[in-house]
This record gives sequence, C-alpha cells and structure tokens, in this order.
Amino acid sequence: MIFSNLIRNSVIGVGLASLVVGAPASSAASSSASSASSSVASDSASGSSSQSDSAYTVPNELTLGVAQVPNIYNESAVDANVAAKGYSLVNVTTIPRGLTGILELKEATNIYGYDFEHLNLTVTYQSDTRLNIHIEPTNLTDVFILPEKLVIKPKVEGDTESFNFDDSDLVFEYSEKDFSFEVIRSSTGEVLFSTAGNPLVFSNQFIQFNTSLPKGHAITGLGESIHGSLNEPGTVKTLYANDVGDPIDGNIYGVHPVYYDQRYNSNTTHGVYWRTSAIQEVVIGEESLTWRALSGVIDLYFFSGPDPKDVIRQYVKEIGLPAFQPYWALGYHQCRWGYREIEDLVDVVDNFKKFNIPLETIWSDIDYMDSYKDFTNDPHRYPTDKYQDFLDELHNNSQHYVPIFDAAIYVPNPNNATDNDYEPFHAGNESDVFLKNPDGSLYIGAVWPGFTAFPDFLANNTQDYWNQMFKDWHDRIPFDGIWSDMNEVSSFCVGSCGSGRYFENPAQPPFLVGGEVTQYPTGFNVSNSTEWKSISSSIAATASTSKSSPTSSSSSSIDSMNTLAPGKGNINYPPYAINHAQGEHDLATHAVSPNATHQDGTLEYDIHNLYGFLQEKAIHEALLEIFPNKRPFIIARSTFAGAGAYMGHWGGDNNADYDMMYFSIPQAFSMGLSGIPFFGVDVCGFNGNSDAELCSRWMQLGSFFPFYRNHNVLGAISQEPYVWSSVADATRTSMAIRYLLLPYYYTLLHESHVTGLPILRSFAWQFPYEKQYKGVDNQFFVGDALLVTPVLQPGVKKVNGTFPGANVTEVYYDWYTHEKQNFTDGKNETLAAPIGHIPLHIRGGNILPLQEPGYTVAESRQNPFGLIVALDNEGKAEGKLYLDDGESLEIEESLYVNFVASKNELIASPFGDYNASQPLANVTILGVEHKPKQVQFDGSKVKFSYENSTIFVTNLETKTPSGAFANQFTISW
Ligand code: GLC
Repeated sequence: MIFSNLIRNSVIGVGLASLVVGAPASSAASSSASSASSSVASDSASGSSSQSDSAYTVPNELTLGVAQVPNIYNESAVDANVAAKGYSLVNVTTIPRGLTGILELKEATNIYGYDFEHLNLTVTYQSDTRLNIHIEPTNLTDVFILPEKLVIKPKVEGDTESFNFDDSDLVFEYSEKDFSFEVIRSSTGEVLFSTAGNPLVFSNQFIQFNTSLPKGHAITGLGESIHGSLNEPGTVKTLYANDVGDPIDGNIYGVHPVYYDQRYNSNTTHGVYWRTSAIQEVVIGEESLTWRALSGVIDLYFFSGPDPKDVIRQYVKEIGLPAFQPYWALGYHQCRWGYREIEDLVDVVDNFKKFNIPLETIWSDIDYMDSYKDFTNDPHRYPTDKYQDFLDELHNNSQHYVPIFDAAIYVPNPNNATDNDYEPFHAGNESDVFLKNPDGSLYIGAVWPGFTAFPDFLANNTQDYWNQMFKDWHDRIPFDGIWSDMNEVSSFCVGSCGSGRYFENPAQPPFLVGGEVTQYPTGFNVSNSTEWKSISSSIAATASTSKSSPTSSSSSSIDSMNTLAPGKGNINYPPYAINHAQGEHDLATHAVSPNATHQDGTLEYDIHNLYGFLQEKAIHEALLEIFPNKRPFIIARSTFAGAGAYMGHWGGDNNADYDMMYFSIPQAFSMGLSGIPFFGVDVCGFNGNSDAELCSRWMQLGSFFPFYRNHNVLGAISQEPYVWSSVADATRTSMAIRYLLLPYYYTLLHESHVTGLPILRSFAWQFPYEKQYKGVDNQFFVGDALLVTPVLQPGVKKVNGTFPGANVTEVYYDWYTHEKQNFTDGKNETLAAPIGHIPLHIRGGNILPLQEPGYTVAESRQNPFGLIVALDNEGKAEGKLYLDDGESLEIEESLYVNFVASKNELIASPFGDYNASQPLANVTILGVEHKPKQVQFDGSKVKFSYENSTIFVTNLETKTPSGAFANQFTISW
C-alpha cells in the first residue's frame, strides 16, 4: 500500500465527491461507524464462504424492479406487423458493389418508439457468399452506431470498386412502393429471406422486420439459452445478457444474434447475422421469424453456405476465429464453490493423485478472496505464503491453477480504515475507469462483497488500470488463467443502490448464500441412502445459514413508466418490454441499469450485451502483458458474437439433474455455431446435490466436451469424482480415452482456431441432407470421427442411438471392441450402457492420432504415439495431426501430418518444423476382412496380431527413433 489510510481518506474525499450525491452525509457516516467495526470482525472470522449473522445485508427492497408485462404475454399489446405502415423506397442508385436508396416513412404510428421519417438503405455484395443490408436513419443524432472497435464489422472482399454480380450466390431484390426486400439464392432461385407483406418498423426504441420461413423449418442459433438446438414454432428468443441459474428457454448469459436456416428441400443452409448489441427479441412462428431490437440500426449479413459447416466457417471467420487454447486446457479441471481454505485445495489435489484420477487444473471460486474482493486473498484462510507454496508445488507437477474473477470492484467504506485499504478501487477511481450515473456520479451496484463499482471498458484508462491490477495480483498469486464470472454485468440490486449506502460496506448479498442444499437428481432416494451418509460430513464443511432470506413481494407494476420519449427514448423502461427472465422482467433486475453511462456517453442500454465481451478482451490483453506470447486461458460466462476469439465458455449455473445434462449437448452446438467451440458445462451439476449415478454418467459425457470441468455450488455435497467409487471407476475409464485422444482433440482445437469449425458436431451438420437427423440433441460427433451416445436418464442400463448412413454409406466401429457394427441407417439401435460405460463409436473412413495417457497433459506429451485407422466400406480412411509447443501465441514451429489409407496401405506425410521426439508405438487398423500374410513398415516386416477384423501392430518404437512423425512412413498389409 503506497498511501497511508489518512491520505487515502482525503483522496476519497476528492475523488468520490460525487459518490455521496443525494445521500445525507452525516447519517451515512454515522451508520458506517457501527457497521465498520462489525465488518472488520466479520472479515477475519467468517471468511467468504458463508454469510455471517452480524454484517449489514443489502436490503431486499433494493432488489425489486418495476414489474413489467412482457410484450409477448400482453394481450392488449399492439402487433407492429399489423399496425405499422412501413416505408417506401425512393432514389435507388446503383453503386459498384450494390445499391443505395432512401426509405420514406409512409405514416408515423409510433408504436413502441418514435418512428424515423427517413432512412438510408445500403446493400453491399461483400463477397460471392456474403451480402450486407444496412439501414440507418438519415439523421443519426441519438442513434447508437456500434463502433467497429467494439465489434468487428465484416468487410468487402477483393476490389471494392467492382463486382461481378453473376458470381454471387445471394441476390437482393426489392419492392419500392411498400418497401420490402428478398434475398434469393441464385443457384436454386429459392427465396431465403423475404419481408414481403410485413412493414419495416424503425423507431428510436423499436426496430422490427419479419421474414417468411418455409413450413417445417429448421432454425438454429439465437443463443444463449437452454433449449433444444431447433427453434421450433412458438419459440421466443430474448437476447439480453442475464445472470440467472439456467432457466429453460429464458435469456441467460450470452447473446448471439445469428440464426442458421437449414433447408432440407433444397439441401442448402444459410445464415443471417444482425450485427447489433441491442436488447432484442426474436419470435419464431410456423412460417415466420420476427426480429425486434430496442435500439441501434439494421446491419444484416447473409452467409450463403451452402452446407451448414460452410455457414459456420463463413460466419465465424467474420466475427473472429476462436482463440487457440493452450494444450493443457484439454486436461481435466476440478472446481467447486466451498474450497474454504488453501488446505482444501491441497487435499483435493492429493486425493486425485491418491485415486489415480488425472487432474490438470485446480480452480478456486470466490472462497479464496478476502471478503469476496477481487485481486485479494483471505489472509487467514488463503494466506499468501501457503498459497504460493501450494502453487509452486502444483506447477512443479505440471498442473495448473485458475481462480475466479468477478466483474465488479468493491467500493470500500471510507470510514473504516481497514476496509478502505483496498487499492483496486482507489486506483480505478483515481483513473476514472468506473461506470457513472447519468448525473456523473459513480454508479454503485451490489455484488458478492457488497456495494461495488463496475469498470468501464470504454474509458480511456481502463486497460492500463486493468493490466496493472492483474500484474500485481499475478506477482503475488501466480495463476495460469482466469475464470471470468458475473460479467453480464450482474448487480444484485436495481439501479445505483449503493449511492449513499456504500458507507455500510462490507455488505452481504440480499439473499441467502450457501444454505443447506436438499435437492437431489430424479430417481435418488435420500432416506435410505448409504451414499448420503458416507458423504454427509463434507456438507458440514461447506454449509452455512443466514438470517436474511428473500421476500417475494415486488413493487407494483407501473406500465405508465413505459411511455415513449424522444431522443434516445425511455432508457430504463422502454415501451416494448422484453420477456427478461428475471422476476419482474425489469431490465435492471440483477443487472447494472440501462442508464449507467460510459465515459464517452454511451449508455449501458445500447451495449449491455457487450459488457462481458469487452471485459474478456481486456483480461485477454492483461494476460498477454503477464505472459507475453502465451495463449491466454480465459473461461468466461457472458459472451457475444466474436467473444470466442478471446475465451472459452462454460454453461453457467445448471442443476444436478438429467435434464441439464441433456441440454448441455444443444448448448454446445449453439456455442459451436456461435464461434465458441471451447465449451463445457458444470459436470455433475452446479445447483443441487449430485449423486453417484448422475455424476458417473456426466463425468463420462463431460470427458468428450472440449472443456471438461466439474463444479458445484456452496452447500451442496462434494462431487469430486473420487467421492464415489463407481464414479471414480467411470471417470478413470473415460479419462483414459480422453487423454489417449489428446492429439486428436488438439488437432480439432487447431482446426477450430483456423477455420471456425466446432469441435462437437451435430448430426445435422455432419449429415445435412438427411432430414431424419434434424434436431438430434442426444448424440454428437467429436470432430468427424467419433460418435458419442451418452446415457441421459436415470435407472437404465441401455441407451438408444441412431447411426446416420449405417450400412448404406457409413460403417461404425465400437471403440471398445473394434467390432464393425451391424447398424441400420435411420433405425434406433439399442446399446448396452451399464454404469461406467459410455457408448462410443468410430466412424469408418477416419484416422485418429493418439498418445499414451499420462497423469497430466505434459506427461502425456512425453509418451509414445499411436494411430487408429478405421477403414470405410471401400477400405479407405484419412486423418490429420497438428502439433506445436502447445502454448505459444505466435507459433514458430508446427507439425502437420496427413494420414491417408487405401489399398492396404497407410501413408503418413509430415511437414513442418516442430519436432515431436516421441516414437510411434502402435497402429490399430479396423475393418480388415482377412488376416494379412504380413505387415510392413517402410518395406520391412513387423510383428502384428489379428483379431475381430482388426490388425494390431505394436512395438514400432524402434522404427521411429527420432520421433513418430519425423519422416514420412508407409505401413502396408
Ligand atoms: C456464479 C457462478 C458460479 C459460481 C458462483 C460463486 O453463480 O456462475 O459458477 O460458483 O457465482 O462465485
């Protein structure tokens, strides 16, 4: 601490003059005096893992918003498609890449905002596969234009001054009098998008257009929500980043304004991206899609595909290719809320070793913090010296550590010298990096530590401040990555509730934190469970109680608040009320209010959906300062289009239940098509208690997700995989597979980074012309080669799955037995799936690179390689391998290997400079009908065995002494 507390107090007096605006200074000061002493005591005594009885609690009434009637449920709401009169198009002028024109309002109806009279239309053919339609008011006063420095804007490809329109697969057509437009696929003549019959609505707080869709459509995307991958008729997607425990169908953490329209009649798929950070709602009908936004302009991008994977590539390339995660990110991650002290982390790491379950990364939730304050560690429970010793040991064992980081910064109590000794706030306040109220005073919400401020990532000094804070923190606690939470951005109270109240800090959250958890998964019987008894002691360690509990009353509905206002409009209560999945549907419930203001005047209203994304970019940059040229590892909660270039994502607060285990699959697909392939959920479930059966199923399913982390809530029973012996067994089995497959996963990670393709793939992407596989969400492919059929319900020993193309074009092999399966395309196959077994199949035609598993990723990388060659019906297969040092951002040396098998011969062709010195140990060839007379490696005979139509070539190490792929080789049989 460089300043004395005395000086610090006077700095606050100046720096925070605006803080006390509206607060009776004397009462704030005097009430703080009493809370100060109790808070100091509670700091050290109660720690951060539970609520203490004595500290001040943010009053519940501060959490209550103004009840809103969501427009979609409001029977008296005006249907803008019916009431609005629309525009006419005049002055159409062709330009080298498209056309421009002026849209004139026919008649103002001002339904949910004041209509703009004149709009500029610009249509740009950006490439043969991408078309941009841009509509904005001619007068841009008070209109929010999303800056390119915040969100990438797709650019014209090639020569900007000319374009051969005949080459474009997308064609724009329009009607002038009653303005409408269509986007047509030129190769098929099919109308992909048509606003015909519905007026364009464009007002200061409500923009709406509508497209017709074919009956029986297959629309995906528009995340993030807990929903099957198809947005079937009746679906309403509300796009407003929201901190809420994964409700089915409600708006959750991320916003991805893009949809994919897969058409089985023409075997084509296209995508539509609205580059807007606005609050949105999308209504899917039987034959229509209505898209609404509460501010901004229309900036639509059409991607022509024509295959779903083409659309994904085209879209993701434009928003930002996914970050290349470090190799170690593929290892197993263990987390929980409730590792109360550093000894808990030590024990968990030891236990994993004792039970011989690989552990790559141990995580900390907010338990490590000093009273939940960012950049701190609790001096008693996580003392710095012990903490550092622990991390030294961990790093010596090639393991990693990732702590949580919350979005908000604690506002200390200036009347409490100890509390006030919190540099991260003072440094930020002095550099003027926090969000403000419209009157220029500091916006103060409430999160875990009490009243908090929120970094403004549009402010000039924020990045410098951020870099310094992260560096100081890392100098003390050498973490390996960051878990970025609460960045929707969440605030537990409505409005700047801490203005005039921050003298009460530290304050407890306005709801019970860490009470006893009683909920169990479907099919679990607590009363006669020995399982419960054996682990109940762990509950005692983490459970806590609190006097405060939420009350249910809400303030009365004041619809009259949602009146029209000119200029930017009615910011906190827009006339159109979205179906926000918070109690009263108030936009400010559990979030920083829309009227919070950034340094340049931008309102949160316009960029609320970007908060997490901008924060993640800033963390990414801060980590690069700490680890120059190393790939930053960030797992974050709130995402936006393009966030995947900076971070991976976990699915947020799910439940320990089978439903949520199931929904993790479509959530992964939706993240995949949104450019965030590095995704996983809280394995075994976050809220509620898990049980042995669920956890064993989920540990196995989770082992196939790119990001594999077990995490749960404070107060729930422990669920590390070693807690139950059956789960430990199941976990070891599937982790052995995952670690064996690390080179395959790493190759997919690299592929996603350079092409945008997802790692987990839906049937609909792999077999886009097979309508019967539309919307399959209970099975998935990993890359192109592996098909996973998880058990997603309790009490069963079998599972049904389908196998696209089986016995027609495709052949599938059982992973465990290598046997070719006699499946039938389109038929439900019943597979044995006792606890501890997850059905896994290899799709013929693929070659998988493997490496003998070690305890950590680093150890695994020292082991010999192997290959599985799964031949297709014609005896062919191919595959690839990508390797490098696993961590550099600027990669200097890479190794690419192409594998091609046909006519009883496998050729491995390497190129690149990276030297993987580990030898090749074995090659397993599946689908060889007759035992070969001999097997040769580069022309010389090698030993092999043959069983179940499989050739096993082993002990190849001596053939590749300078590294498995140092040279091209051929294996023939
Ligand atoms: C949020 C996170 C959750 C975390 C908790 C406490 O709910 O989503 O993962 O455990 O906060 O930090």
